[in-house]
Amino acid sequence: MGKWSANDIPDLTGKVAVVTGANSGLGYETTMALARHGADVILACRDEKRGADALARVRTEAPGASAGLSLLDLADLTSVRKFAEGFGAERDHLDILVNNAGVMALAERRTTADGFEMQFGTNHLGHYALTGLLLPQLQARPGARVVSVTSFGHKVGRMNFDDLNWERSYRKWLAYGRSKLANILFTFELDRRARAGGSSIVAAVAHPGYANTNLQSGTSFQWSNFMAQPAAAGALPQLYAATAPDVKGGEFFGPSGLLEQRGAPKRVKAAKRAYDAETARRLWEVSEELTGVSFRFE
Ligand SMILES: NC(=O)c1ccc[n+]([C@@H]2O[C@H](COP(=O)([O-])OP(=O)(O)OC[C@H]3O[C@@H](n4cnc5c(N)ncnc54)[C@H](OP(=O)(O)O)[C@@H]3O)[C@@H](O)[C@H]2O)c1
Repeated sequence: MGKWSANDIPDLTGKVAVVTGANSGLGYETTMALARHGADVILACRDEKRGADALARVRTEAPGASAGLSLLDLADLTSVRKFAEGFGAERDHLDILVNNAGVMALAERRTTADGFEMQFGTNHLGHYALTGLLLPQLQARPGARVVSVTSFGHKVGRMNFDDLNWERSYRKWLAYGRSKLANILFTFELDRRARAGGSSIVAAVAHPGYANTNLQSGTSFQWSNFMAQPAAAGALPQLYAATAPDVKGGEFFGPSGLLEQRGAPKRVKAAKRAYDAETARRLWEVSEELTGVSFRFE
């Protein structure tokens, strides 16, 4: 793929995209790049003011771009359903879904509106439900992309199905790692299920390396912003996964530099346990049960 940059994004005129967490960091840069290349982008944000400010910036920086705001709180399944219903009422297709939003290493164990641990609930279950609820619109477009954003930190993640929501003990970095491992297991399982069900959906996953965003603001992990790459560079792997013509279902993209922390995107490998199909199947079934969302592939 050479030194792929945002300039290599193909013309996206006529394509509809949804980006979660679009008001900040990688989500904002992803939104800007998609809009600049002609996509009609819906900024899916939890806070109306932050979302409206980001939309105004997109309209200023990419004049003529087609973009809109729709409220989505991934930590509340009622909000996820409302978002999907609103989207379905207005649009009959979706070409690109970027499951980008996330929270990291929250100091105290917190829970979502539905009682799930906040990182597992927001980063994984909210996006699982969102994808399932938007499946009819995604399947209305051949080869629609579902891109989930994980982290190098997935490598410390373990699925413990006896305590998925950290009710017995809470370790903030392990909780983040589990949610990011879940993003990869979800993608690989979505790819397998879509293929088996005859669906042309292309599910891919990406990680940004280390990028300067607001993600660290709630943690003590702020020592190294000078080492981080700009958010626009961190967004390149997910932009590649969302737009490059040669992307296949089940592929994983990250930066090509040292320890995959910075640089142009390339295909990367996940931790071995992310390829365990039995764990992925189990996670899928638990996610279905916890969210009440089932996927119907066609
Ligand atoms: N930056 C890095 O170095 C890095 C490294 C590895 C992985 N990642 C991943 O990259 C993704 C984007 O993070 P970022 O670095 O761009 O951080 P960020 O600047 O903090 O952006 C995170 C976005 O997610 C949104 N969000 C959080 N909780 C939400 C919820 N319940 N419902 C809807 N939206 C919610 C935030 O909204 P508010 O602005 O309203 O809080 C914000 O828009 C995350 O999945 C993260 O795990 C980042």
